[in-house]
Amino acid sequence: MPPVVLQLRGVSRVFAGGSEPIVAVDGIDAEFLAGTFTAILGRSGSGKSTLLHLCASLDRPSSGAVIVDGIDLATQDDDALARLRRTAIGLVFQFFNLMPQLSIEENALLPIVLERAPTGADLARLAALIERLGLSSRRTHRPERLSGGERQRAALARALMPSPRLLLADEPTGALDSTNATAIARWLRDLAHDDGVCVLAVTHDERVAALADSVLRLDDGRIVGIESRRGTTAP
Ligand SMILES: Nc1ncnc2c1ncn2[C@@H]1O[C@H](COP(=O)(O)OP(=O)(O)O)[C@@H](O)[C@H]1O
Ligand SMILES: [Mg+2]
Repeated sequence: MPPVVLQLRGVSRVFAGGSEPIVAVDGIDAEFLAGTFTAILGRSGSGKSTLLHLCASLDRPSSGAVIVDGIDLATQDDDALARLRRTAIGLVFQFFNLMPQLSIEENALLPIVLERAPTGADLARLAALIERLGLSSRRTHRPERLSGGERQRAALARALMPSPRLLLADEPTGALDSTNATAIARWLRDLAHDDGVCVLAVTHDERVAALADSVLRLDDGRIVGIESRRGTTAP
């Protein structure tokens, strides 16, 4: 069996609300394997983004444990978590979050530059990723000159530069037309199947879900359904 990349053990996240606390994520147990693509579906407010932020180490659970590649994130200080996000965890968002003053190539290289001086091997990987994602003719362009689909592929290149074991995407196709949405969903699937990345994508988009190995449905912060073709388990 492929290794477990992400483990959630009794994960809850409670926000202090107005009169009553809001339980955004409510006792989630699940495991996600290398080489699998999981879609997380659920209505608005069901806790999808909160859960993804916990997996991304951008937030800490109120209780329970988030374990990435065997590391319990609770044991890591903020600097260590920031490093983990630059090395082991790739993040993709709905609105791309590219730096407007940098070219596509410079955006993609950013996670490396924040860590260390890029090596020849980094530059070769950058060129290969840009080529593979069909961005060669756009590599010196700034994001404003690109289409939505190209921007999301550039954001994928940036997320993949450090060779993450875990790729987390929040509504990655939310701002794209149908053709580009399907293309991005195929990329996510291929990254899992061909490169062994553990991919989780929060989505409203059934076309994304149709390409996933597993579909995990959330409601009120709980798993209410799991359809698994391979690789994701929950009790
Ligand atoms: N920072 C926060 N402070 C207070 N409540 C929050 C915060 N973030 C999310 N929530 C609440 O938690 C619930 C789940 O939100 P979210 O995870 O964003 O849902 P989804 O991504 O599925 O739409 C919602 O009721 C939302 O209002
Ligand atoms: Mg959300």
